[in-house]
Order: sequence, then C-alpha cells, then structure tokens
Amino acid sequence: MSSTHEHGFGVDIGGSGVKGAPVDLATGKLVGERVRIPTPQPSTPEAVAGAVAEILDSFGWTGSFGCTFPAVVQHGITRTAANVDASWVDCDAASVLRTVTGRDATVVNDADAAGVAEVEFGAAGAASGVVLLATLGTGIGTALISHGHLVPNTELGHVELDGHDAETRAADSAREREGLSWKEWGGRLTRYFRHVENLLWPDLIVVGGGVSKKFDKWSPHVSTRTPMVPAKLRNEAGIIGAALLARG
Ligand code: BGC
Repeated sequence: MSSTHEHGFGVDIGGSGVKGAPVDLATGKLVGERVRIPTPQPSTPEAVAGAVAEILDSFGWTGSFGCTFPAVVQHGITRTAANVDASWVDCDAASVLRTVTGRDATVVNDADAAGVAEVEFGAAGAASGVVLLATLGTGIGTALISHGHLVPNTELGHVELDGHDAETRAADSAREREGLSWKEWGGRLTRYFRHVENLLWPDLIVVGGGVSKKFDKWSPHVSTRTPMVPAKLRNEAGIIGAALLARG
C-alpha cells in the first residue's frame, strides 16, 4: 500500500452482512481489514444505512463512498428487493444514505460492482470483448461489460427457464436447499449458462459468489461453449467495485 495512491471507500450491502473498507484505487487492494456487521433485521433502508454509518465511522472515513445493493439500482433509486426488505422498492437509497451517514453515496447493483472490480483487477483483466460475470449466492447476480463499459442492471438471474425464475433453480441457495450434488447442480448451471450464452454470446464468463472457491468441484459438470473462470477477488469484489464506481 502506498500513501501516494488515491483511496476510495466501498461498502457491500448483503442480505446477511454489511461490509466495508477503504480501497487503494490504483491497486484494488483493501487498505486495512474490512469491517463486517450483520445486516439489521428487518433490513429497512434506515436501519441498514445506520449500519453503513457505523462502518464508515469505524475507519474515520468522512468522504464520499460507493455502496452496493443486491437489487436493481437506477440513478441512486433501488427498484427491486428480491432478497431484502420490500421497503427498498422505489426507495431513494442515495438520499437515505446521505441523510443517515452525512456523506455522499453512489449506490450500485452488487453484481455490477463485482464485475467492474473483476475487469479492473481480477479474473477478467486480460479478456477483451464481452465479459459476463455471474455471482452465485442467495440469488444470481449478473454484470455485463463490453470492452470495459458496464451495462448496468442486466438482472439475468431472473430469466425464465422451464417455467421458473432461473435463480430459484440455479443459485447456490437452490443447491443447498435441495441438497443437490455438485453434478446435479452442474446440470442446472449448464442449463442456465447455455441459455444466457445464447442470448449474449459473451467472450468470457466469470463466476463469483462464495461457491467460486469450490470451482474445481462443480465446474467439471458444467458444459458451455464460452470459457468460464472463477472470480479472483472473492468476497472483496463488491467493496472494490463500489469504491471504483464512486470515483466515476
Ligand atoms: C437480484 C440482483 C442481485 C442478485 C445478487 C438477485 O436476486 O435481483 O439485483 O444482483 O440477486 O445479489
């Protein structure tokens, strides 16, 4: 870490935890240990913003910051709430965060942040063309990046497949809930990714989310035409991408 590099601050809001840390914007490295606090329940905007303020305070960070959210975010307004409290739908999240924390917030979709970080500093760095990042967790988040430019809020976890919302069949939470073997889940992922690659024809698929650590276990059971690699930045990608996107 060099003190001559510009630092930003990223916060990653998830269904179970709110995490944050300062980020060296030149290297994509966290500046110190990230802080995590459990997501307040119910996870209303004011309560979650309070948790964000606590994290910023713990680092003495007074400047503006970037913040991910696990739903559609258009110009600071959260539009959906698939796996969080319904009161976030059509909430002016950037304003709530500004009021509660006293700092300016840039709010972005969680997968979009992770995708930007992976392109800048992680697994998609060397790829040219169209990169699709998919995070497999409670839901499926997607980021679509073409020659370094993000198309926000692609929401391809919710394509309809065999009459189902795809993430309810292929997210990691579906594997856990249904007790699927790696092979069985690999079959679900093959069905999912083949559909998505036929819509977009990406050059590379990067898979993030906690289960990307076990890429060697399940990826042999997934067959796609597009090369697929695990995300590199693991659970720091959201924080790093949020800080990058806040820089503009
Ligand atoms: C949401 C996305 C989010 C993804 C991962 C999905 O259910 O619709 O906005 O990126 O979960 O958190």
